[in-house]
Amino acid sequence: SGHRPHARRNTSEVAVRRLPKAIIIGVKKAGTRALLEFLRIHPNVECSGPEPHYFDKNYNMGLEWYRDRMPETYSDQIAIEKTPGYFVTKEAPQRIYDMDPHIKLLLVVRDPVTRSISDYCQAATKHTLQPYESMALLDESLGLVNTSWSAIKIGVYSRHMEHWLQVFPLAQIHVVDGERLIDDPASELAKVEQFLGLPKFITPSHFYLRGFKGKFPCLIKRGKPHCLGEKTKGREHPVVKEAVLQRLQDFYRPFNAKFYQQVGQNFDWN
Ligand code: A3P
Repeated sequence: SGHRPHARRNTSEVAVRRLPKAIIIGVKKAGTRALLEFLRIHPNVECSGPEPHYFDKNYNMGLEWYRDRMPETYSDQIAIEKTPGYFVTKEAPQRIYDMDPHIKLLLVVRDPVTRSISDYCQAATKHTLQPYESMALLDESLGLVNTSWSAIKIGVYSRHMEHWLQVFPLAQIHVVDGERLIDDPASELAKVEQFLGLPKFITPSHFYLRGFKGKFPCLIKRGKPHCLGEKTKGREHPVVKEAVLQRLQDFYRPFNAKFYQQVGQNFDWN
């Protein structure tokens, strides 16, 4: 899509850039890219590819700047963007509400311990890092969790969720199970379609299960499988010492329980 609005065939309607009707707010490393790419196959959805980071980093750019980051849509379509940084940004809920109090929010979640390892793997591609164990715990023998490390902080979902629920009713937030998005993407997407009020479109025939690294679903487009970034998704996770995993699960357990209560959904993470 270039910068000139294009007219739809058979009608004189012109596609224009509109503010999003739904935003994928997080969580980083829980499958946010997969959710966006899967939603994109819906004919009534257009998505912005890059993350605009408007409500966290670029808020000073103003609403017109933000609208310009959106894809062109026809009147029967909605624009969706994803920026996982929003979920952990304190100011984001109120800023989004100020733009559109009726907006729909999508949140993909995953076991916070696995999520932190995934986050570590991503960071390790950019800098040389110490082993995961020594970053996650302040002192392995004492088992004190390094709660100031962002890879740990992001996973305290209940603390972030609290900020969202102070601004938005739960009915405006749909939580997607990141594990189910991998194992049964069509049924997770059906729930998302329903939440967004879209006609039912996405079916199992759109997916090629376990097509990527024998594990992750790929999309079937014109008969061919299309998988997410070969290098950037589905990275090999290090084997983490069992005692360290246990310690982290213990750390997250009360926050997870609080989160299940907040969203009225149980994820059985530990
Ligand atoms: P890993 O790379 O640790 O396996 P995000 O897009 O939010 O950064 O999330 C990345 C995670 O999405 C990946 O983490 C992977 O587990 C998950 N994922 C879900 N569906 C996927 C798919 N179809 N292809 C690749 N990764 C997928």
